Amino acid sequence: MALDVLPVTARDYFRSGAWGESTLAENIAAWGRLRLWHRVMRDVSARTTECTLLDGPSAMPVGIAPTALHRMAHPDGELATARAAAAADVPMIVSSLSTTTIEDIRAAARSVRPGARTWMQMYVGRDRAAVRELAQRAHAAGCEALVLTVDTPVWGIRERDVRNGFRVPEGLRIVHLERPGGPTGHAGSGIHEALAWTIDASLTWADFEWLRDSTPLPVVLKGICRPDDAAQGVSLGARGVIVSNHGGRQLDGAPPTCESLPYVAEAVAGRASVMVDGGIRRGIDVVRALALGADAAFVGRPVLWGLAAGGEEGVAHVLALLRTELDVALALCGCTRPSDVTSALLRP
Ligand SMILES: Cc1cc2nc3c(=O)[nH]c(=O)nc-3n(C[C@H](O)[C@H](O)[C@H](O)COP(=O)(O)O)c2cc1C
Repeated sequence: MALDVLPVTARDYFRSGAWGESTLAENIAAWGRLRLWHRVMRDVSARTTECTLLDGPSAMPVGIAPTALHRMAHPDGELATARAAAAADVPMIVSSLSTTTIEDIRAAARSVRPGARTWMQMYVGRDRAAVRELAQRAHAAGCEALVLTVDTPVWGIRERDVRNGFRVPEGLRIVHLERPGGPTGHAGSGIHEALAWTIDASLTWADFEWLRDSTPLPVVLKGICRPDDAAQGVSLGARGVIVSNHGGRQLDGAPPTCESLPYVAEAVAGRASVMVDGGIRRGIDVVRALALGADAAFVGRPVLWGLAAGGEEGVAHVLALLRTELDVALALCGCTRPSDVTSALLRP
């Protein structure tokens, strides 16, 4: 439905991957190759999908990955997503390229559930004062964590957007990253040229330490694919890592996240939360992620499609489908709760 209602430029921006889109396709296909070696006769009559995630409760080990420009999918934009996430009692990671302020997003989430959980995604750009200010705003608005995206020293090349000459539509604003004196997205250049100042190709681990020391909030690293990077981040104080290849939008040719996940989980060894995104489309994919060592899985595009197709109700429907599927998948695997899922469920 979303593909039908969205104009081609928006549809392609949301669905595109980098270059030949091989990582984008593999993200989905590789989960499908994992076989669940299910147990039987285990009394699964009393079940829950509830879990603890980054020191807080969640209705299921699933959250909303940060994606840009929700008002391009639906006029209610991030407010609709935040309300649906709060109602479903799952964490939402707000993109720093959102079209609604973090204060308004938090107010929408809290209006549905006072304990709604929101994490703020950040890029560390060249203007460190602006980064610090956004971190402070996120903290003041009641966000529980910062999610530092680390797979973006430069923007990946998404050929659909190049061909379409993608720009942020007139009337939409990337509210957190506007520079005094100029709009961001709809200047004469494409979105990535306009947003070039918001990322920084010179980033190193020292910049992670700087962010860590600039905020009282826990910091999660997003965009990790190697065990050595994960180990380094955790040793420097990352409270969690999200195994991600940015939904195939950065380095085409990067491994699908389900192939990186077990290496990262082994390196982290319980010292921090391990999360994963990329190609999670069904409840069985969540079980597969848990079996490979993740504490939770996050969804990007499915939420955008729900939002485009039906606003808040559409996002709520996507989350409800995932929860029902996860519940049934747990039962069929002989598990009564997410923590029952171990690597023993994967066929040797
Ligand atoms: C349209 C779109 C916009 C995105 N914007 C951001 C962003 O602003 N910050 C970020 O860290 N990741 C961003 N991502 C990556 C997602 O957080 C996530 O890694 C990815 O979408 C997960 O894969 P999936 O879409 O297959 O579920 C974006 C992804 C998409 C599809």
